[in-house]
Order: sequence, then structure tokens, then C-alpha cells
Amino acid sequence: MDNDFVVSSSLEKANQYQELLAQITAVTQYETDTIALMANVSAMLKMQFGWFWIGFYRVQGEELILGPFQGTLACTRIPFGKGVCGSSWAQGQTLVVPDVHQFPGHIACSSASLSEIVVPVRKKQQDIIAVLDIDSDSYNTFDATDALYLEQIVAIVFAR
Ligand code: SME
Repeated sequence: MDNDFVVSSSLEKANQYQELLAQITAVTQYETDTIALMANVSAMLKMQFGWFWIGFYRVQGEELILGPFQGTLACTRIPFGKGVCGSSWAQGQTLVVPDVHQFPGHIACSSASLSEIVVPVRKKQQDIIAVLDIDSDSYNTFDATDALYLEQIVAIVFAR
């Protein structure tokens, strides 16, 4: 891929995220219900970027359980440490997966999903209460720009 194209498309993406960040902050600032917040954040990300699947898995005991999402039906329970979501939870960090077929143990909820990013959601900067999972039907969709802004979004919405 042409390097100028990579630079300009990631600037374009950063601009989109900055606008979205302001909208999400405005829309969510007076709401405290976690499920309602997850529902609107999924919807706003879907409207802005149109990715294939966007949603939350909530920490419930030793597993993740499907929460609000935008997209096709998905697996409902993911054990700690399993798949990209369970690994992100176990490692406590964002995982960017350019090609899901290269990720050992990837859980395929849909064969259309080709790349993925998973961001842990923390309450008050501490305990992980959920993960934000985004799937794309193209390879190499997500990079450090997505990680940076998605981490900011979940921090603003859920950390308070
Ligand atoms: N691919 C995820 C499972 C969730 S679905 O993609 C919606 C994983 O490997 O954890």
C-alpha cells in the first residue's frame, strides 16, 4: 500500500474519532446505566464507521456474556482467556488482530469476520467490567489509531 495513502487515511480516521468522541461525551454524560451506555456507544460507532459487528461482552463471574451490540447474531458466552475477547480480558490490554485466522483460538461467530479489535472496559480505571469487540469483514482494518481512540471512548463513558 502507498505510504501517503496510509498516512492520510489514518488522519481521516483520527478526525472521525475526534468528532465522535465529542458526540459520545455529550450523549452519554448524564446516563449512568451501563447497559444503556453500551447500547448507544455500539450504535454511534456503527453509524460512524459501519463495521460488520460492534458490541460488548460483559464480565459475569468467570466468563463474558453477550451485551448490547450492532450486527449479526453472536456467541453468547466466552470463557476467561478464550478467543480474542477472553484473551483481552485475561491480559488486561487491547488486542488488534489484522487476520483472525492467524489468532490461535479465535472464536468465529461469523465467517464474514476477518479482522478484529478488542478493548477492555474498566470501571473507575480499575476492574474490567466488559470488553468492547469490533469485527470487520476486511483484513487489516484496525491499527494503533483505533486502539488509542477506542480506549479513550470507553474511558470517558465507563470509567466514571
Ligand atoms: N471473535 C471473538 C468472539 C466474538 S464475535 O466475534 C462477535 C473472539 O474470538 O473472542
